[in-house]
Amino acid sequence: EAPFYILAIETSCDETSAAIVENGSEVLASVISSQIETHKAFGGVVPEVASRKHVEVITVIVEEALRQAGLKPEQLDAVAVTQGPGLVGALLVGVVAAKSLALAWNKPLIGTHHIAGHIYANRLVAELKYPCLSLVVSGGHTELVSLEAEGEFRIIGRTRDDAVGEAYDKVARALGFPYPGGPHVDKLARESAEAAPLPRVWLEPESYDFSFSGLKSAVLNLVNQSRMKGLEPDAGAIARGFQESVVEVLVGKAIRAVRETGAQQLLLCGGVAANRGLRSALAERCSAEGIELIVPPPVYCTDNAAMIGAAAYVKWRRDGGTALDMVADAGLSL
Ligand code: KG4
Ligand code: ZN
Repeated sequence: EAPFYILAIETSCDETSAAIVENGSEVLASVISSQIETHKAFGGVVPEVASRKHVEVITVIVEEALRQAGLKPEQLDAVAVTQGPGLVGALLVGVVAAKSLALAWNKPLIGTHHIAGHIYANRLVAELKYPCLSLVVSGGHTELVSLEAEGEFRIIGRTRDDAVGEAYDKVARALGFPYPGGPHVDKLARESAEAAPLPRVWLEPESYDFSFSGLKSAVLNLVNQSRMKGLEPDAGAIARGFQESVVEVLVGKAIRAVRETGAQQLLLCGGVAANRGLRSALAERCSAEGIELIVPPPVYCTDNAAMIGAAAYVKWRRDGGTALDMVADAGLSL
């Protein structure tokens, strides 16, 4: 197989990233510029600010990826970009950059779905076997996706309200941590000996859907009740109780879905896949039940362009390139 080099660009939220990926599995270069420090002051991502930051750095990020890979533009086979979903102004920056480069260098363009990217981050670390099942947990998404064949996605469950990362960030904020709060809650949960009693939300017995807004409200109530009594809430116990509830439900539904779909592998992905409590609970259950678990390293769990390069290769093999008149789509479906 001749090597196929994809330059991939990701700007859907607050990371500007470019990568060069060979055959959708080998990362030759990966450059990620995070805007987190900029958005921290606002307590969350400000869309207008995100777009402007992407514009400022996109050119140097792409140049740096080419330099790291030691490739010239003419050696590339295609240019890939996250077409959606995401913040529309942020997506536009990447899409315009990718279209311009594809046109200038006369290379095919591959418009790629952000969640397909998160799922195919697993292609960077393992050979995938179909059917497989992916648990997607990020700041914007919480989904169980069944893949019967390469590039064939069937969403079997999703959150009905908050995404799991969003719930983590809101709980963290109530406990006084800066954005993004997920890692702080994770650390606190692991260090605490106590766990506050909090509900598990399973929904209907046969459902693969999730709901985290009730749990989040229960946490906010505990915090407010303490403060009204003039006491500081027990942040450790709350973090641990919250994490145990989230992890128990995510793991329970994912394992049941693996069984019912006959999946050969369970693929974890998305920013919350960096969560240590979730990783260790899933590893334990999977090893006890003989399920092969694949988890990308944290840099490929949070937003990055290498995962887009992996998903773009799969899409290229199935459907070929995308017309140059494609548009960024904030609500693109998988
Ligand atoms: O995938 P990602 O980088 O961006 C989206 O596409 O949403 O995910 C970011 C989310 C944030 O909500 C962040 O708080 C959460 O992932 N996160 C974590 C951890 N690390 C990142 N949540 C819980 N525990 C962590 N260790
Ligand atoms: Zn993401």
